[in-house]
Amino acid sequence: MLVGLNNESVGMVKEVLAAEAVLPQSSLPFGDALVEARHSRPDATIVSLGEAQDAALEFGQQLHREFPDMTLIAMARASDAQAILAAMRVGYKEFVTLPDDAQRLRDAVHASTASAGSEEKGLVIATVGSKGGVGVTTITTHLAAELAAIHRVTLLDLDFSMGDAASILDVTIKDSIVDVLSRSDRLDERSYTASIATHRSKVHVLAQPNTVDSLTEADPDDVFNVINVAAAGYQYVLLDVGSQVTPATGLALQVADIILLVTTPDVIAVRDAFRRLKLLQAMGVEKDRVRLIVNRHRPKTFVSLSDIQTNLGLQVSATVAEDAKTVEQATNEGKLIREVNRKSDTARNIASLVALLTEDQEDAEPLGDPPSKGGLFGWFGRG
Ligand SMILES: Nc1ncnc2c1ncn2[C@@H]1O[C@H](COP(=O)(O)OP(=O)(O)O)[C@@H](O)[C@H]1O
Ligand SMILES: [Mg+2]
Repeated sequence: MLVGLNNESVGMVKEVLAAEAVLPQSSLPFGDALVEARHSRPDATIVSLGEAQDAALEFGQQLHREFPDMTLIAMARASDAQAILAAMRVGYKEFVTLPDDAQRLRDAVHASTASAGSEEKGLVIATVGSKGGVGVTTITTHLAAELAAIHRVTLLDLDFSMGDAASILDVTIKDSIVDVLSRSDRLDERSYTASIATHRSKVHVLAQPNTVDSLTEADPDDVFNVINVAAAGYQYVLLDVGSQVTPATGLALQVADIILLVTTPDVIAVRDAFRRLKLLQAMGVEKDRVRLIVNRHRPKTFVSLSDIQTNLGLQVSATVAEDAKTVEQATNEGKLIREVNRKSDTARNIASLVALLTEDQEDAEPLGDPPSKGGLFGWFGRG
């Protein structure tokens, strides 16, 4: 089915898909398309995401809800990261511009007729810090290692300011993520796997380069492509986003299924967590995608868990105990925390984080008191 395409676009689609599919004579207006979809149940629908972008998004969402197995393809004149994101979010499976993406369009339509809806994408989890040094890399690398015991897991180090996932895991990198981003338009699962370093826990790591000789800002489109390839080949894709929100890391946060926001229990970090939450909200990230983790937790802190919940208006989903001795030894020896001391609370808490990714948060046991009105700190309002 074709929807909202002008004559020129219909012509191009027919040319590209001549050998691939049975095509309709013409394109339908948005108003008629849902009725036609219910009637003819097409394997794939190509929708113009041009002039009437809102209508196309709304229609795509409706169609996706009603026919989750149908392959939805958005077609536009030019590639645009924001439009791609918006389309993917409502349920479009592909975003193409013609004639550049002719082969992609053929492949998508071909796959839709071969096996409708059999493709499973991995869960994308982004970890972001309220500020630097709160434990993003420690938590991301160790969570990846936990998951890798029974799943296919890859970790992308997207902390371009000081990525150090490779050094915490003590792996020797092959290609860095910078190399891979530079050829993201030609990347597929095979070339992705050829570029990663494998940690003994079986985590596939795409790390930052050893030496940062030029601080180049990553292109969000490239980051999007690499995450997509990773999600096609792995069950879990973990993103170390660091603590700086740039266009590239912002995109990672927007596409993630789950965002782990890490803070430590001190005033400055909690204030910065609040700022991060505000920023996420402004970027259109729904609150129910965010899980708040308090790292370096210890029995008595000046800022308690309920203070944190009250001031952020968000439940603390998990805590990770502080254990300076064990964590430092692990870092120095290039080992995982559990390899240094399996009984350490820190190792045990990190192992329990796996439940955050599978549990429905509505049913999850709340930690400490639920968020209540009022607050300890004067420096931010509630929101
Ligand atoms: N739970 C913990 N207990 C003790 N030290 C920790 C803990 N989590 C992290 N650290 C230490 O804190 C420092 C910063 O951690 P890191 O994961 O690199 O933070 P980030 O990636 O957010 O900058 C490291 O030296 C790390 O070993
Ligand atoms: Mg880090």
